[in-house]
Amino acid sequence: MTAEHAARTFATDGWSPQSWRSFPTLQQPEWPDRAVLAAARTELSRLPPLVTSFEIDALRAQLAEAAAGQRFILQGGDCAETFDGCDSASIAARLKILLQMSLVLVQGGKRRVTRIGRFAGQYAKPRSSDGETREGVTLPAYRGDLVNGPAFDAASRAPDPRRLVRGHERAALTLNFTRSLIDGGFADLHHPEYWDLEFVRHSPLAAEYQRMVDQIGDSLRFMETLVGVNVAQVHRVDFFTSHEGLVLDYEEAQTRQVPHRAGWWDLSTHFPWIGVRTAAPGGGHVEFFRGIENPVGIKVGPSTDASDLVHAIERIDPWGTPGRVTLITRFGARDVARLLPPVVERVRATGRPVLWICDPMHGNTETVVPQSGPGTGVAVKTRKFGHVLAEVEQAFEIHAACGTRLGGIHVELTGENVTECTGGARGLSDGQLGEAYRSAVDPRLNYEQSLELAMLIARRMKG
Ligand code: PEP
Ligand code: CO
Repeated sequence: MTAEHAARTFATDGWSPQSWRSFPTLQQPEWPDRAVLAAARTELSRLPPLVTSFEIDALRAQLAEAAAGQRFILQGGDCAETFDGCDSASIAARLKILLQMSLVLVQGGKRRVTRIGRFAGQYAKPRSSDGETREGVTLPAYRGDLVNGPAFDAASRAPDPRRLVRGHERAALTLNFTRSLIDGGFADLHHPEYWDLEFVRHSPLAAEYQRMVDQIGDSLRFMETLVGVNVAQVHRVDFFTSHEGLVLDYEEAQTRQVPHRAGWWDLSTHFPWIGVRTAAPGGGHVEFFRGIENPVGIKVGPSTDASDLVHAIERIDPWGTPGRVTLITRFGARDVARLLPPVVERVRATGRPVLWICDPMHGNTETVVPQSGPGTGVAVKTRKFGHVLAEVEQAFEIHAACGTRLGGIHVELTGENVTECTGGARGLSDGQLGEAYRSAVDPRLNYEQSLELAMLIARRMKG
């Protein structure tokens, strides 16, 4: 925190944790039972917080460093977490891939990398329609496990406020295990030779990948020998969490003042972001997030109006505080060259020191109907690895040409061997999508594709 900032808080001009309620607020569930909601909110506000204000400040400082070109941000995880998906194997696999990607990026970019998990609270999803109709029956749309259940029956689809408390508990379980794995040194990190690099054999870059991994192993071993303890203890690997701050009953109930510090802190996560559909400057989300001390992300896409964006940035970051605002752009490989530069210019003109991150997933979603394999004939959402990579590469170039800097990436991934995105070194085809398609929402990069993406970005950062 800067000295200047210590003296003031973002909670100004009539802001309170409840003030969003007098603004139009999109994407909120219609909770059927106000008494149950009130009880859930009271319980949530009493439970221990998931993160602390000190961690939040540390992250804001790191985001400021990334905006200044001294760090790179790796933000990743599922599109939507589910309560059932809170299991040890998938948490460990996700942590492993994020840590491995970050080592590869450190090696290529020669910059420190901040890891931000898109988890421990990523339980709510924006929907294009409030209802879903099947065979003449209309029920509320599934809004994520924080709100209702996915099964198409009235009981599952009824929003249930008790899920807010369960979400907090699942997030706590996820965070607890994540923090323990990291504190324990997470052995997989120390021996890149044990990384699952089978896919490398399929890549034209096999030799380069192998060299990269050997170098990472050598550097880690060198440090361990030199200092005599293992790397995780030397450099306690910081890990931060983030989720889309969508359901404001959940965020508000966990927003508190803390002893001896000014301001209000959303202690449900370090880094909430505002989705593309809820970023209107006059809406409840911008009102809520402008008053908390956390750094705030804003998604920016083809539907974003540049004047609205500037207005939202000015509301959330009235004084140009470094690390306060991160813009997460998601235009798609086809449109990024046309749509990103004008937004960059408009934002640059505000003089705000924003951090630019590229989300190469959400602008590159397409629907295909596989003509072979297990899911033949059934439409499925996918993304092409080549498009994902192409958007990141273009974002690097566009920022360089505009005099700004790409400071990180935001990806949907899993540490498991799913078949949801096509392409990559193994050349996964549309016909293979049905083999292990598990995402309930958006298609994620699998373990191999994620590591390959990190390697190709590292290679580019090196060059
Ligand atoms: C998401 O990140 O899963 C999402 C819904 O993104 P966006 O708001 O960019 O569409
Ligand atoms: Co998504």
